[in-house]
Amino acid sequence: MTFDIQKGETVIYLGPSGCGKTTTLRLTNRLESITRGTVKMNGQDVMEMDTVQLRRQMGYVIQDIGLFPNKTIADNIAVVPKLLNWEHKKIAERVDELLTMVRLDPDIFRSRYPAELSGGQQQRVGVTRGLAADPEIVMMDEPFGAIDLINREQIQDEFLRLQERNSICFRRWPKHCWKKRALKSKSRAV
Ligand SMILES: Nc1ncnc2c1ncn2[C@@H]1O[C@H](COP(=O)(O)OP(=O)(O)OP(=O)(O)O)[C@@H](O)[C@H]1O
Ligand SMILES: [Mg+2]
Repeated sequence: MTFDIQKGETVIYLGPSGCGKTTTLRLTNRLESITRGTVKMNGQDVMEMDTVQLRRQMGYVIQDIGLFPNKTIADNIAVVPKLLNWEHKKIAERVDELLTMVRLDPDIFRSRYPAELSGGQQQRVGVTRGLAADPEIVMMDEPFGAIDLINREQIQDEFLRLQERNSICFRRWPKHCWKKRALKSKSRAV
């Protein structure tokens, strides 16, 4: 498998269960070691990069959501901005902006804990966490599977608007909509 992703491009990576989609993302993020082949980011082999630096430049929405159960929703979203020493006010504004984007009312949800959210709501928070620090690259592993169709379409439209600023790498959108979305966003499917 060989392909390039240009800045501003959305790539949808499709394949049957167990074919290696999650593994590919984990290799890109160095959660797994690469033994053959290379993954490059801005021309540099990720295996030669500092892992902390690499992961800070790359938002990663994992397949099983993985929110911290002992942190509020706001604190879950703020993990990377805090690591990057963003100002308190900027973090709070970003949290509210992202919650609004995924159609969760910040006044209701920012101080709740993950266990107080439905599966689909947790999944939406997982997506915002990957975007929080405005990373150069965003990888999302089946990010919309647990969200109802109406919300999913609206949230995907928000992402298409975001794509004008960032390169967002979606993975495995449901078959019935990925073709339409790929065309709409001028994306590629791999
Ligand atoms: N830690 C592991 N140790 C050994 N094999 C693994 C490990 N993780 C995944 N695999 C295997 O590697 C293959 C690829 O798994 P991967 O999770 O990348 O699939 P996927 O394409 O993301 O599937 P799905 O659509 O079900 O999420 C599978 O056959 C899986 O059983
Ligand atoms: Mg997977």
